[in-house]
Amino acid sequence: MSAAESLTVPKTIVLVGLMGAGKSCIGRRLATALGLDFVDADAEIEAAAGCTVEQIFESHGEAAFRDGEKRVITRLLGQPPHVLASGGGSFIDPATREAIRAGGISIWLRADLDILLRRTGRRNNRPLLKQGDPRAILQDLIEQRYPTYAEADITVDSADGPPEVTLNRVLDALKTYLDSQAKGAAE
Ligand code: S3P
Repeated sequence: MSAAESLTVPKTIVLVGLMGAGKSCIGRRLATALGLDFVDADAEIEAAAGCTVEQIFESHGEAAFRDGEKRVITRLLGQPPHVLASGGGSFIDPATREAIRAGGISIWLRADLDILLRRTGRRNNRPLLKQGDPRAILQDLIEQRYPTYAEADITVDSADGPPEVTLNRVLDALKTYLDSQAKGAAE
């Protein structure tokens, strides 16, 4: 058993942060390291709706997407502990954030603008980034959302290098967090 597998994770770990922060990439690796299942919230929403996130935005609008997102994440939080990559806007919705606060351990993957821009530029599937200049949109989202992401239980800087670097930071931060929770409970 690896050191990470020996960590007892009492609740689902929810990765939050902007598009391109690495929530799915790190989430998958984190799940493997902890011996847990990995679930991607956007993929679950697509499976439930029978169409892509982009099609939901186009046909029903962002508000309908947020509603579906809230239902899917609340349902997933009711399942046994796993690693959940949430969509970038989910933690910004107050009800979804409260559900995550109550039922999960949130980890904000914080990344700077250039990293986000480069990583999101690899795929053309984010409706919000098609509404204008992606750099300006991401900069606005950083200003609007970072104060809220900062409410996550744990913050980790997403490294501009191999995923293993960020993964190890996440594992270290998670261990520190779980140790402090256990200490708090024992006091
Ligand atoms: C969104 C992020 C996307 C997806 C949707 C909206 C956002 O998920 O949920 O396009 O509001 O930041 P990723 O963060 O997984 O790209």
